[in-house]
Amino acid sequence: MASDVRWGEFDALFSALAHEDAPLVAARTSRQVTSPGIEVSPAFGRLLHTLAVASGARRVLEFGTLAGYSTIWLARAVGPLGRVVSLELDRGNAATARGHLEAAGVGTWVDILCGPAATTSARLVEAGVPVFDLVFIDADKASMPLYLERSLELTGPGALIVLDNVVRGGRVLAPQADPDSRGVREALAMADADPRLEVAALQTVSAKGWDGFAVLRRVA
Ligand code: SAH
Ligand code: DHB
Ligand code: MG
Repeated sequence: MASDVRWGEFDALFSALAHEDAPLVAARTSRQVTSPGIEVSPAFGRLLHTLAVASGARRVLEFGTLAGYSTIWLARAVGPLGRVVSLELDRGNAATARGHLEAAGVGTWVDILCGPAATTSARLVEAGVPVFDLVFIDADKASMPLYLERSLELTGPGALIVLDNVVRGGRVLAPQADPDSRGVREALAMADADPRLEVAALQTVSAKGWDGFAVLRRVA
């Protein structure tokens, strides 16, 4: 399709505007992970950084680390006096990400907790950790409703919760949606029904396809 070519041209233009350095490029292009290439785009990484800086976030929680690409963007936003906790199922991915975080110079203020995020996030709740200012939910989509619930236990008013992959090539609205797509749809419905949350959802196109993200602002 001819429009794919144009999407690629704008990917290139907008990626250049993100001004990645070598450690970011290394994390984004890493093949030493379970699913290479599913990280956020450079433009979205930059947007996560901007959201975190603009909201004054000091503590960030991430569901789904992969090679640490989005993690680096978020860690640089909070700076060395901040903290990023990233939850990752796969040990190999976590080890790969650790290397990229060290190379990016942010390793000392990022923790990667290895294991199912349902378990590690429950541990954070039990431990009574200080609230997070921004949460990025980007792990297995079937569990998105649970991760949103956990995020509400781990944040307070003023927090931002960002959901990735809210379109999934249109599958999120398919009548016979797969469990991942159903999870996304349910999380959006939960957010919509929750008076504590104000939802801004946007769809995106790129050479990677048709997708989208949502920014939930916790108003209460
Ligand atoms: N946020 C990353 C991309 C994450 S890809 C970026 O943009 O750079 C999704 C990640 O979620 C993968 O690394 C996958 O291993 C992880 N994941 C899948 N199921 C999980 C689970 N149950 N608990 C924690 N992490 C999970
Ligand atoms: C997939 C997961 C993601 O988080 C993403 O941004 C793109 C694709 C996937 O599992 O296919
Ligand atoms: Mg994603």
